[in-house]
Amino acid sequence: MRLRILQSALLTLAAMIGVSALCTSPTAAAQGSADIYKDVYNGWKWWHVYCYRCHGQDAVGGALAPNLIDPNEKLPLKDFLIIVRNGNPEKGMQAWDKLLDDKQIGQLFTYVRARADKVLPPGRPDEVGPKKGPWIPPQGWTGQK
Ligand code: HEC
Repeated sequence: MRLRILQSALLTLAAMIGVSALCTSPTAAAQGSADIYKDVYNGWKWWHVYCYRCHGQDAVGGALAPNLIDPNEKLPLKDFLIIVRNGNPEKGMQAWDKLLDDKQIGQLFTYVRARADKVLPPGRPDEVGPKKGPWIPPQGWTGQK
C-alpha cells in the first residue's frame, strides 16, 4: 500500500517535470526574443535622440558622420562601448559617458547591429513587423556576434 502511494507520487512528479520541461523551452525562447526586441526598440529610441543628427536616420550615415551599418565594418560590442563612451572629440564625435550608461550604449549597439546585419528594416521597430506591428527578431539572431 505504502509502495503504491510512493509509486504514484513518483509518477506525478515525473509528469510534472515532463510538463514543465516541455513548457520551459518555448517560454525561454519567447523571453529571449522579447528581450532582444526591447533592446532594439530602446536602442532605436536613444539613436533618434542622440545619434541620428550626425549618423543619419536609421543609421545610414549623414554629412557629419559615417554610416554605422556597413556590414564590412561591424564593431564588436567591446570597441563600440569604448568609442561611444569616450568619443573622438578631435574628429567630431563627442563622448557620451555623461549622458548614457553602458546599458543604454549596449542597446544602441544591438539596434545598430540589427541594421548592419540587415535583419531590421528602416523605420520604427514597433511598426516594421508583421501587419505594421512590432518587429520580430529572426530566430537565432542575438545581435551579439
Ligand atoms: C556631432 C555629431 C555626432 C553625433 C551626435 C554622434 N556621432 Fe558618432 N561619430 C561622429 C563622427 C564625426 C565620427 C567619426 C570619427 C572618426 O573619424 O574617427 C563618429 C564615429 C562613431 C563611431 C565609430 C565608427 C567607426 O567605425 O569607427 C561610433 C560607433 C559612433 N560614432 C557611435 C555613435 C553613437 C552611438 C552616437 C549616439 C549616442 C553617436 N555616435 C553620435 C559624429 C557624431
